[in-house]
Amino acid sequence: MVSQNTDSALRAEHGSIADAVEEMPYGVYIVGTTRGGEPNGMIADWVMQVAFQPHRVAVSFENDSYSLASIRQNNAFTVNLLAHASGAGMALAQHFVQPHRAAKIKGRGQPLVSSTYEKLDAVDHTLTTRGCPVLDGALMWLDCEAEQFVDVGDHTLVVGHVLDGRVATSDRPLTSVDIPWPYSG
Ligand SMILES: Cc1cc2nc3c(=O)[nH]c(=O)nc-3n(C[C@H](O)[C@H](O)[C@H](O)COP(=O)(O)O)c2cc1C
Repeated sequence: MVSQNTDSALRAEHGSIADAVEEMPYGVYIVGTTRGGEPNGMIADWVMQVAFQPHRVAVSFENDSYSLASIRQNNAFTVNLLAHASGAGMALAQHFVQPHRAAKIKGRGQPLVSSTYEKLDAVDHTLTTRGCPVLDGALMWLDCEAEQFVDVGDHTLVVGHVLDGRVATSDRPLTSVDIPWPYSG
């Protein structure tokens, strides 16, 4: 039987759009980039495959993200999926919760505001031929060439052609359901 819910009845029953989209599950990734010979990693969960042939993935970046600006310079990025592995992925994720530039977080005073976080200094990794990091602890990694930048409002969707990729472990992936930092709503 089809219920004749009005728009307002639906809203009362299910809360806001933000509540609804917050229920969407994601994998937890470290998106790797490079600039001036220095690699950087950004924790991200708005990542998905968008084509089979050739393989393409899309990542949605905040417009003022340091990582996005790096990709605009050289079109290169990696995608590292974190593993669940009884806390190992979570421990790895902790290294990436800060922005590269401390000033990105509003309200930070001197001297912190002018500092940078070299997030990969304490994380085992190798670099792709174009200098983007592949994390030793990743469940799988992809090496991508950015092909399209799509303005979607407060974010920019970067569509990448997957040039290479491997599964590194057989663990289950770390997901947004497993971590205490919601990035949605
Ligand atoms: C769990 C989690 C998921 C996130 N997902 C995204 C995302 O999909 N896209 C994005 O632009 N920022 C995302 N962020 C925020 C970025 O990690 C944050 O803006 C970071 O400063 C960007 O790194 P960068 O300054 O080194 O480029 C997420 C943060 C957390 C904690």
